[in-house]
Amino acid sequence: MAPKPYLTLDNVSATYGDTTAVSGLTIEVPKGELLSLLGPSGCGKTTTLRMIAGFVEPSGGRIILNDKDISHKPVHKRNIGVVFQSYALFPHLTVIDNVGFGLRMRNASRAEWRERAAKTLETVGLSPTPIATPASFPAVSSSVSPLPARW
Ligand SMILES: Nc1ncnc2c1ncn2[C@@H]1O[C@H](COP(=O)(O)OP(=O)(O)OP(=O)(O)O)[C@@H](O)[C@H]1O
Ligand SMILES: [Mg+2]
Repeated sequence: MAPKPYLTLDNVSATYGDTTAVSGLTIEVPKGELLSLLGPSGCGKTTTLRMIAGFVEPSGGRIILNDKDISHKPVHKRNIGVVFQSYALFPHLTVIDNVGFGLRMRNASRAEWRERAAKTLETVGLSPTPIATPASFPAVSSSVSPLPARW
């Protein structure tokens, strides 16, 4: 039996004026699973991530997180963090400080946020260089990625 989804995008669409950015996308993600969106430029990857985080409101479909419909919930009530693309990373902070920033802002203890940020970096194969700054990383390593604030 397939694991129960923690995050579901159910037939989700998004438009910017006359432009359809995402059309009828359905994805189910179990808790703890790492999901990558791969596709040509303009296919709607960033828009999809923005809808999950709450920065773009879906024009159709539903986003379900932990059995709750968050489709139209405001950003600040979703408990989802986002690490933005390189231009919005803090250049003066190390990589681990950038990744742990959301948890720090939510008053996680230093021990907790550092441990969880290090685990996240390890998951994506960046653990050997957590003290480096974003400028020393290739663009692909700093792409936008929503992270549940408590995962
Ligand atoms: N703020 C916006 N206003 C109008 N159209 C937009 C806006 N943001 C994205 N689009 C359009 O929506 C579509 C999807 O864009 P999106 O940025 O989600 O794609 P992407 O897969 O992230 O692309 P890339 O690989 O280049 O980052 C594209 O046609 C894009 O031009
Ligand atoms: Mg993009």
